[in-house]
Amino acid sequence: MTSTVRPLGLNSDPRLSGRAIKRVAFDEAAIAKRVTELGREITAAYPDGDLLVLGLLKGSFIFLSDLVRQITRPLQVDFLVAASYGEGMVSTGSVNLVYDPETRLEGKDILLVEDIVDSGRTLNRLVTILKERKPRSLEICALLHKRIADGLKYDTKFVGFDAPNEFLVGYGLDHAENFRHLPYIASLQ
Ligand code: IMP
Ligand code: MG
Repeated sequence: MTSTVRPLGLNSDPRLSGRAIKRVAFDEAAIAKRVTELGREITAAYPDGDLLVLGLLKGSFIFLSDLVRQITRPLQVDFLVAASYGEGMVSTGSVNLVYDPETRLEGKDILLVEDIVDSGRTLNRLVTILKERKPRSLEICALLHKRIADGLKYDTKFVGFDAPNEFLVGYGLDHAENFRHLPYIASLQ
């Protein structure tokens, strides 16, 4: 007879919807510490100018709300929606961009905030589109980076954590819209 060894308590979280979590990759304390550091780095990187923090929905919503409170300089917040089609665990590659064309990007320092860089296709496409609107600068801040993308056209200047090559959920990241509200980041079984 075989038995499964599982960290005690992990799968008793009532937020989980019957799906088992394999392990917690980044806990609440580690995330909070890193987000505070990122806030300091970003504050120091923008000594002047109009900073527009552009969150990529939906995945960045929790990260962005924590991050902007750690950036101690004037800024504005707006959002974009870039939906990869499908409910699977593999990126499909077709990216649908929805944004508010009223948002002025011209002349501003734009910080694009993304939950995770996986294949990099989302960013490649998005950054190309945003650059056409003539911002003063455009940098990327990703909470997680899997470091598996080849053919990344743009550098990610601010990275929270290098991520394991596993499917991660929580702290904004979903699987079929579940698990976004977990306060930690975990990998699925
Ligand atoms: P990319 O275009 O392949 O870089 O994928 C970017 C998007 O795919 C992210 O913004 C996420 O929404 C989603 N994604 C990629 N990897 C994961 C993961 O491990 N967990 C949850 N979502 C992911
Ligand atoms: Mg997603």
